[in-house]
Amino acid sequence: MTWKRVCATGDVAENGLELFDVDGISILIVNHGGDFKAIPPLCPHMEEPLAQSGICDGKVLTCTKHLWQWDLATNEPQAETEKPLLMYDLRVAVDDIEVFVERELEYEFDEDDDYDDDDSFWDD
Ligand code: FES
Repeated sequence: MTWKRVCATGDVAENGLELFDVDGISILIVNHGGDFKAIPPLCPHMEEPLAQSGICDGKVLTCTKHLWQWDLATNEPQAETEKPLLMYDLRVAVDDIEVFVERELEYEFDEDDDYDDDDSFWDD
């Protein structure tokens, strides 16, 4: 494949996350402080959709399901986070966000995780 236009830079609000379809592949664009990252749509922990459960504070992306976190500038997992994010190469061409997609990036998920699927720090 080649570089593909995903959206305009203005389509993703600062510190926002937006899901896009690029030739049948779901790609989540994160705007962290005016910089952008392109990642798979699911949390690498337990497949939580980050478009719904992800929060970006401009520097760190947090999955609110079990609070895994990543520094978006370095892709360093924070605190107890056990896996880095997979990232597509991304470039900004004038006002367009483009990603280089050779294949869909997917995480390998553990079958026997310690967490219950319904556990969340935000649930009662
Ligand atoms: S599913 Fe995202 S932190 Fe657990």
